[in-house]
Amino acid sequence: MLFSEPVTEIIRKRFSCRRYIDKPIAEEERGRLSDFLSATGAGPFGTAVRFNLIAATDQARKALKGLGTYGFIKGATGFIVGAVGPSRKNMEDFGYMMETVILFATDMGLGTCWLGGSFTRSSFAKKISATVEEVVPAVTSVGYILKKEQSEVTIRQIVGGHNRRHWGNLFFRETFGIPLSPDEAAPYAVPLEMVRIAPSATNKQPWRIIKDGDYWHFYMQRTRGYGNSLTFKLLNIADLQRVDMGIAMCHFEMTAAELGLKGKWVNKEPKIEKPDTLCEYTASWIGDFL
Ligand SMILES: Cc1cc2nc3c(=O)[nH]c(=O)nc-3n(C[C@H](O)[C@H](O)[C@H](O)COP(=O)(O)O)c2cc1C
Repeated sequence: MLFSEPVTEIIRKRFSCRRYIDKPIAEEERGRLSDFLSATGAGPFGTAVRFNLIAATDQARKALKGLGTYGFIKGATGFIVGAVGPSRKNMEDFGYMMETVILFATDMGLGTCWLGGSFTRSSFAKKISATVEEVVPAVTSVGYILKKEQSEVTIRQIVGGHNRRHWGNLFFRETFGIPLSPDEAAPYAVPLEMVRIAPSATNKQPWRIIKDGDYWHFYMQRTRGYGNSLTFKLLNIADLQRVDMGIAMCHFEMTAAELGLKGKWVNKEPKIEKPDTLCEYTASWIGDFL
């Protein structure tokens, strides 16, 4: 297995760390993390994602401010930069792969924080030599955790980082509107719970999942006023809620694998009526297929 302890423990341990000890990551640890980054391949939809670990210079720290990120990151000694090429589901693949990296770093005892913004034309993109085809939807700060309680309080309170939507708002049975209970979700209650506690941009938690027999249909409920695919294209801003969907898929699949639940992703929208135009289909997990 990839991790030294159950993935459910690592998912529970992860939090957005915004205060770090101002001490460079030890060479051996940097090596382990870099090796992991170089070994990453493609996400579940097949888009390859490339990652680089860069040292957080003063210049890089300052550059963050102008790039649409929120929350003050103090003392980070590294950044993980990721670049992804064009494809219909590239943002989801990016979210999936970057979250895998974050869980690996969490398992190493390092603190991380997702930072979403307009990095594509930034100095961060230069550090990974992003091609004209590629985008850099987000970067992750990384370093030694200054003390969980100190680093968590402010921004986490502002964005409600510790709050999560209840099951009844996220998981449904056969159609939107009929809440799914953990009992009904068995044996997938734990993978769903790991989706529920996942990180998401400004903690909006856009994931909605419908169970229909052996199918688990994943939908994205866009936040009103957060933009749509056209504005993201025009303004060259990453569609972070699609990144959030990839993160949810990562938590769900890794937890299912650990529980020995077999399945696979398919991209075939079912005929289920969506609540509004802000709701978009992402993918479905078929469990127990032979
Ligand atoms: C795609 C994405 C982008 C994010 N961008 C930022 C950011 O720019 N600044 C920041 O401080 N936190 C950022 N976050 C962290 C979220 O605010 C955080 O995950 C959420 O509030 C839940 O808190 P937790 O991660 O501590 O569980 C981002 C998270 C995601 C998934």
